[in-house]
Amino acid sequence: MWVVLSATVALRSAESNPAPGKIDYGRDVRPILSKNCLPCHGPDEKNRQVGLRLDLREVAVADRGGYRVIVPGRSSGSRLVERITHPTLPMPPAATGKKLTADEIELLKKWIDQGASYAGHWAFERPVRPPLPEVKAKSWPKNEIDYFVLARREAEGMSPSPETDSCTLIRRVYLDLIGIPPTPEQVDAFVKDEEPGAYERVVVELLNSPRYGERWARVWLDLARYADSQGYEQDNLRTIWPYRDWVIRPLCTSGETPTSRARVCQWRGCGRCRPARMSAA
Ligand code: HEC
Repeated sequence: MWVVLSATVALRSAESNPAPGKIDYGRDVRPILSKNCLPCHGPDEKNRQVGLRLDLREVAVADRGGYRVIVPGRSSGSRLVERITHPTLPMPPAATGKKLTADEIELLKKWIDQGASYAGHWAFERPVRPPLPEVKAKSWPKNEIDYFVLARREAEGMSPSPETDSCTLIRRVYLDLIGIPPTPEQVDAFVKDEEPGAYERVVVELLNSPRYGERWARVWLDLARYADSQGYEQDNLRTIWPYRDWVIRPLCTSGETPTSRARVCQWRGCGRCRPARMSAA
């Protein structure tokens, strides 16, 4: 879930937005540097200019004979800021046709003032549970993730929509989890169920349904361009359904292969990890 959250935030920061309170290197700074600076101040040795790397903190903050490109905590003393705001010798150089926006310049200054901390790519960082953000509508959140959603909404001056009615809710949860709408009987049963935990029970039931595996495997199978038949021209059959089932099964709670192992196998793509058993069912 944190992955989903941070990906959403990263997308948002691609728009022109005023600098957020606490600058995050991976989310806010790296995209600016890699787009505008790293071609000449990055890992590529051949194109590297004046021996300056901005992707490595130890190089960026190093003494360069009486001055530093980044002075952590002090943007005003940092050569980087001097150059990105320079009237005649701006960085990136005018010849590149690139130019930092005022928001980007503010963000880089703020990042340096906050200590210019670097971080590896989020996918390789050990996840750390962040503290819950402060929210005004304290009674709204039901779980931790709600705090983050609400804090962001409050920051944008938005308030949550009212809770929906039971019919709409159950339809949504069915479509989300298994991709199929509920039958009228299932809707009725849910609407009439006044016991506490009715919603949670539906969610668990759907998570345990084989339809859940089918619905979510579809995302992966689409990426892998899977189809039961050849499609083109004569639409001949092809018998690669064991692969299809192998993707579906670990997503079902009753599956034989733990999901994480299946994912690793997918990424490796070496064909060595076969499912324990491929039934013809
Ligand atoms: C097309 C290549 C290119 C790009 C892109 C580029 N630079 Fe440079 N940069 C240079 C060159 C060449 C120099 C050395 C000449 C100069 O100082 O103007 C330099 C010098 C610098 C210096 C001065 C280093 C010193 O020791 O005085 C800083 C700071 C700097 N760049 C920061 C940046 C930043 C920040 C970005 C992105 C916002 C950036 N550069 C983008 C080519 C580039």
